[in-house]
Formats: sequence, C-alpha cells, structure tokens
Amino acid sequence: MTVEKGLADIVAAQTAISDIDGKLGKLWYVGYSIDDLAQHSTFEEVVFLLQNRRLPTQGELDDLTEKMVNDREAAEFLQDLMPTLAKQTSPMSMLRTSVSAASAYDPDGWDQSPEANYRKAIRLISVMPTLIASYDRHRQGLEPVEPNPKLPHAANFLYMLSGEEPSQEAARAFDTQFILYADHTMNASTFTARVVASTLSDMHSAVTAAIAALKGPLHGGANELAMRMILDIAEVDRAERYVKDLFARGEKIMGFGHRVYRRVDDPRATILRLITREVGEHLGELRWYEIAETVEKVVFQEKGLRPNVDFYAGVLLYYLGLEIDLFTPMFAAARASGWTAHIREQYADNRIIRPDSEYIGPRDQTYVPIEERDQEVAS
Ligand code: COA
Repeated sequence: MTVEKGLADIVAAQTAISDIDGKLGKLWYVGYSIDDLAQHSTFEEVVFLLQNRRLPTQGELDDLTEKMVNDREAAEFLQDLMPTLAKQTSPMSMLRTSVSAASAYDPDGWDQSPEANYRKAIRLISVMPTLIASYDRHRQGLEPVEPNPKLPHAANFLYMLSGEEPSQEAARAFDTQFILYADHTMNASTFTARVVASTLSDMHSAVTAAIAALKGPLHGGANELAMRMILDIAEVDRAERYVKDLFARGEKIMGFGHRVYRRVDDPRATILRLITREVGEHLGELRWYEIAETVEKVVFQEKGLRPNVDFYAGVLLYYLGLEIDLFTPMFAAARASGWTAHIREQYADNRIIRPDSEYIGPRDQTYVPIEERDQEVAS
C-alpha cells in the first residue's frame, strides 16, 4: 500500500470540465485555453461552457443571461437573516450559512433530477454576489442595493457593493477575474463538492461543503492574506527585507507556490499581473502593484517559488474597491460555476468516493475496565 499524503498525483475522477498542464503552465476549460477565454469571453459565457461543455449560440447566451438576472434576488428569509449574519459572522461563514439555508427556499425543493439540478446550479451562481453585497452593506449600516438587471453578472456585483455603476475598465477586469476563478480541476473545494455529491446528497449541501473547504488559508483564504501582507509592507523599498524576515522566521508567503504549477507560472497569475498593472495605472496608484512585483522577485530569488492565482487577484480586488475580507467570498462566487458543473458531472456518472487509509495506531490491545485504569491522562 502506498500512501500519498495530500492525495498528490492521485486521479480521483474523470472530468470533461477543465484541464491543467502543470509543466507547460496551461489551463483549459472544456479544451478552450484560459488565455482565449480571458481575452474574448464573458463570465456568463463561461458559465454556459462549464455547465454544458460547449460554447453557446447568441440565443442560448441571451437565454442564460436572462435566467441569471432573474435569479439574482435572495429569498426573503435570507434577506431577513442578513442583518443578523452581518453582525455575528465573517463573510465566508455568512456565505456558507446562507447557501445552506437557501436550500429550504429553492423552488425545486428536494427534486434531484438533472433538470432541477441545472436550475439550482444557475440559481446558486446568480445569487451569491447578492448575498455578499447585501452582507457588506448591512455591516456598514447601509441599505442593500437592488440588483441592476441591465448590468452583466460581474458589473452588477460591483454595483451592488458600492451603489455606483463601475467604469468599463473595472467591470471588464472584474469579469476577467470571475472567468479566471471559475474552475481549476480537482482542487480541494471541488474535490470536497464531488465527495459530498457522490453520496447523492443535494446540490446545496455539496456547495456548502465546498465553501467550507475554500475558507481555509491554504486554499481560497490566500488572496486576503497576500493583500494584508502587501498593505503591511506599505512601501516598495521595505518589500525585500520584509520577505527575507518572513523566510527567516520559517513562515509561508501567501499567494505563492502551487501543487500543480511547480516550475512554471500559474497561467492565471500571468493574466492577473497584467490586468492589475493596467487597473493600477488607470487609477494612478501603482504602489500596491509595485510592492507585489518586488515581493514576487524576492520570493523567486530566495525560494524559486512563483505566484499563484491568489497573489495578484488580491491586489486587483483591492484596486476594485472590495473590502479585504470579501476577496475569498468573491472567489467562491466565481468558483460556484465550476463546483456546480463538477457536482452535476459527478451525479451523471456516480460512484461513492471512499478512499482507503493506512492504519498506524496500536494493535491487539487488551481492554482494561475503567476502575482498574491508572489515573494518568494518556495525552
Ligand atoms: N511560502 C514559503 N514556502 C513555501 C510556500 C510558500 N507560499 N509554498 C511552498 N513552500 C515550500 C514548502 O514549505 C516546501 O518546502 P520544503 O520542501 O522545504 O518542505 C516546498 O515549498 C514544497 O511545498 P509543499 O508544501 O510541498 O506544496 P504543496 O503542494 O503541499 O502545497 C500550497 C501547495 C499552495 C498549499 C502551498 O504552496 C502553500 O501553502 N502556499 C501558500 C498558500 C497559498 O497561496 N494558497 C493558494 C493556492 S492557489
């Protein structure tokens, strides 16, 4: 028996949704390169692609866009719950709780048919930005902003956060970030979603579990921590010392390293680096980008590590005006498109995911009645 700690290199499923070449630094959704999709596509089109495994015709895209617009509003129960969640929980806990609660109000109820699951997937993708924006408005003591049916998914998210229509540049940058976060093969949260789906549990439960997995700093939480580090560095000429001190203390630098992209750039980071610079230039505030670029150089010199998707994603979201603790929820809102596609793929050809383990504890122990045991606490 061989044990692969962290399940590295274990193929846990066959999928037709996305593919990575970790040596070449390439990522494809349904065979389309992420570079092409980032340049030419929209998030709505990518949602169609991931869910249907082909690009839509104009009519199909219009139809999906209309569905997504109609599904933006949160159930009344969630709207009522939000002021309490805004007071009591972190944004990721709010999202996990709200998505779980949304199951009780889904019009398809416990219907597990493929058609119902498709509708549930689109509803979840559509409503997540509304939940996040409404939470953010409540915690600032502001009224939530109604979704604007004229705006695309990503632009509407920015609009619901600030109450102002974003510039074309900001809307496009945010839309691209949605595309880049949409799917990434068998990452920890997608695997979690598929494990839950493989027990034939429902769509909302599988997405709730995926949000819980994404919450951790080794997965989605890295974009927030990377930006907090950059803010803490504060000045470009402090970056080198700061990074070297972190390494000297044996600490990890968030937003660097990747299980799959070892000796090449994460292709999403390459695109985000470029967009972040453009947005920084547009805003006349390149400082955060320049600190990030210096950190990247020093980390590479010192450890040979390259940035992953989360590093520049954090800086870009900061430039776009998101609160830092909304970075991971935004990631979840985008990744919901991939999670739900994987969950539906799992349902379509299911076998319960149940790996093995290697037992390393003691064997053949003799049971001692409690009154005869030493008082000593074992550990
Ligand atoms: N900072 C410092 N050292 C790092 C590092 C980082 N961000 N990422 C990896 N390393 C080091 C590890 O300590 C390890 O060193 P060692 O061989 O001396 O023990 C080596 O690089 C290999 O990394 P490993 O932990 O085996 O990689 P993994 O595949 O198990 O983990 C990550 C991958 C992404 C979890 C890991 O790189 C990490 O924790 N990165 C920071 C968090 C992050 O950005 N997550 C977002 C992922 S998209």
